[in-house]
Amino acid sequence: MTAIHPIYPLNVPMPKATADAPIGVFDSGIGGLSVALEIARYLPNERIVYFADTAHVPYGPRQDQDIRELTAHAIEWLYRQGCKVAVVACNTASAFSLDYLREHYGENFPIIGLVPALKPAVLQTKSKTVAVLATPATFRGKLIKDVMQRFAEPAGVQVLSVTSLELVPFVEAGAQMTEPCLQTLTEILQPVVDAGADYLVLGCTHYPFLKSAIQYIFGQKLTLIDSGFAVARQTARILIKNELLFEHNRQDSLRIECYVSGNNAENLTPVVARLIQDDQITWKICNIQAASLEF
Ligand code: DGL
Repeated sequence: MTAIHPIYPLNVPMPKATADAPIGVFDSGIGGLSVALEIARYLPNERIVYFADTAHVPYGPRQDQDIRELTAHAIEWLYRQGCKVAVVACNTASAFSLDYLREHYGENFPIIGLVPALKPAVLQTKSKTVAVLATPATFRGKLIKDVMQRFAEPAGVQVLSVTSLELVPFVEAGAQMTEPCLQTLTEILQPVVDAGADYLVLGCTHYPFLKSAIQYIFGQKLTLIDSGFAVARQTARILIKNELLFEHNRQDSLRIECYVSGNNAENLTPVVARLIQDDQITWKICNIQAASLEF
């Protein structure tokens, strides 16, 4: 494992959180709300503190060490908010950070990460060709390579790796159904349809918010798969295992508190409202000062 600078060494072992503490969810931007929403629906008594590092989004084009350090700061922020677990709702951040974070925080602050949902696609493909759409950084990471070697290669399934730096900014801007976004999707995905892929793995947590756009262009030609629901189930398992599941009815309280580092809460409010579109999920969005991320 690559060591990172001890930005905030834990001198005192941390106390274990209690079940009424919130679940921390992190992404480079607002895309990880696709995962936060799955968690909020699957675990209706839980509160979520969501951190979007909108000052630094996108992470996809960044260097490995940069991604690791930004992720470490974000998770430390969630920890200091009193969260009971942290979900790294970002494939790019997970690819470089999970081992380090788990070792750093130990058992009292479980870290849940994700990897593109290639396994279910491999199990279900009929054409034996699947495509994975993810950031360039995610493809450099070890996690996706492991899944390819463990599941796709033995099953004789061809995996087409597709990458784009343009899609995350479209989601951050709420511009999924615009002509430039539809054109970009057509350009990058038509070749995989032509190559016979029947499944498309959405290997970035921003991309579930592109489902309508992808289906609008390709209809039934591609079956779309993402990791959101699996992460929600894994979060439930981890909470149960650690006796941290909140079992009282809390459906009336605020469900998702979304904090953004880019001082753009106001601009993001209408975008997030369109992403969430669920009357059952109450949410608010606030700015956090950059200084509160310096530990
Ligand atoms: N949502 C992220 C992911 O799952 C990263 C997007 C980005 O910041 O490039 O990979």
